[in-house]
Amino acid sequence: DTGSPAQWLNHDCSEVSREVFTSEAIYRREQQTVFRNNWLYVAHESQLKNPGDFVAAYMGEVPVIVARDRDGSIAVSVNSCPHRGLRVCRTDQGNTARFICPYHTWAFKPTGELVGIPQARKMGPEIDRSRYRLKAVPRVESIFGLIFASFDAQVEPLADYLGDHRFYMEAFFDRFPGGLEVIGPVHKWNIKCNWKLPVENMLGDIGHAAYLHGTLVDVNGEANQEIENLAVTAVARPGHAAAFRYLPEDSTLQQRAVHNPQSTPELAEYLTEVERTVAERLSPVQARMKGMALGVYPNLSLLWGQHTLRVSHPRAPGLIEYWSWLISPIEAPASVKKAIRAGYTVGFGPSGIIEQEDSYAWSEQYIGSSIDYLNDTPYYYGMGVGEEGAHPDLPGQVGRTYNEHYARSFYQRWREDVLAQEMEA
Ligand code: FES
Ligand code: FE
Repeated sequence: DTGSPAQWLNHDCSEVSREVFTSEAIYRREQQTVFRNNWLYVAHESQLKNPGDFVAAYMGEVPVIVARDRDGSIAVSVNSCPHRGLRVCRTDQGNTARFICPYHTWAFKPTGELVGIPQARKMGPEIDRSRYRLKAVPRVESIFGLIFASFDAQVEPLADYLGDHRFYMEAFFDRFPGGLEVIGPVHKWNIKCNWKLPVENMLGDIGHAAYLHGTLVDVNGEANQEIENLAVTAVARPGHAAAFRYLPEDSTLQQRAVHNPQSTPELAEYLTEVERTVAERLSPVQARMKGMALGVYPNLSLLWGQHTLRVSHPRAPGLIEYWSWLISPIEAPASVKKAIRAGYTVGFGPSGIIEQEDSYAWSEQYIGSSIDYLNDTPYYYGMGVGEEGAHPDLPGQVGRTYNEHYARSFYQRWREDVLAQEMEA
């Protein structure tokens, strides 16, 4: 039993109960609220260039198909046959005219319409095909090439959902002249942890890099000091957050890929060059942002310096299916793309040496959270309470390195979501 919701978190979420990460009841409630009522990231537009292109995705626990239609629009439908429930799309991505269900070969367009029932020619009665399509997800919108979908037909427009957080997203997703593309298929693997743990880490826990990753990432010598001195955490709308180094106006610091163990002089040069165009195309403020991490509520994360997008898919209170993509500038020289790809592969993804350390921490967190003797002993999320505030250049609430307001605002938003169900009931 989870006690009363009021006991899970204190007023400002500077204390969070361990059960928030382990309770089966809370987990079920999240599936009905957090994953039902928000915008969820499903695919990148570069994966769906042509009509008939599709990718398989998940919205929480629900498998979906994201497909480009002939008219260029994007449709999202639930990947479950209306006859007996099998997944009709059984691969990660591709191009097709039809999905054929493996059980009785009902046929569907990539956008979900039912177009063939072989048995219907031999056995009546007549079937209303429009009634037995793959169920359409009612809302689909994209921004900066990122496609989001929502099960809630009444959800606010995506632009409003993101609010001023778009400023921070733009600084990475619109940074590169020519745009970004996802390279290769998704990497996916299981981690024995709660889905919120990786999310929280990438919303703004930049302080752990010097410690958890201390032996690996301090190859640049002063990199960690630079983070402590220059990094900020920004929350423009509760639940979303960004963390980055914000350089002084007159800084002569070289742009470089901190924490990319495969960085090269060409990559540093390219990033510096891009930075000049950012000052002109976007704003001088965004040019001074040196990327680290960013999150979109509830479960999309970006590691900016490592060029990886990831989604934490819930599977059980203590299990996630983690999905990770390499996202690379389309127009960068081949040598630069190679350095970006090598950095991602060595550092992140299922075999990444830095990823291993994070996964270890999240699994340990879950084990620690499962000690029910400690259910009366909440976690401390109060680092920097009240230190965050308005900033002359940057939208939202801005705090320094180690300020945990990114997590406090995430749990405030999360609490509103999970309690909404109670109000309705
Ligand atoms: Fe799909 Fe029967 S379950 S055709
Ligand atoms: Fe980490």
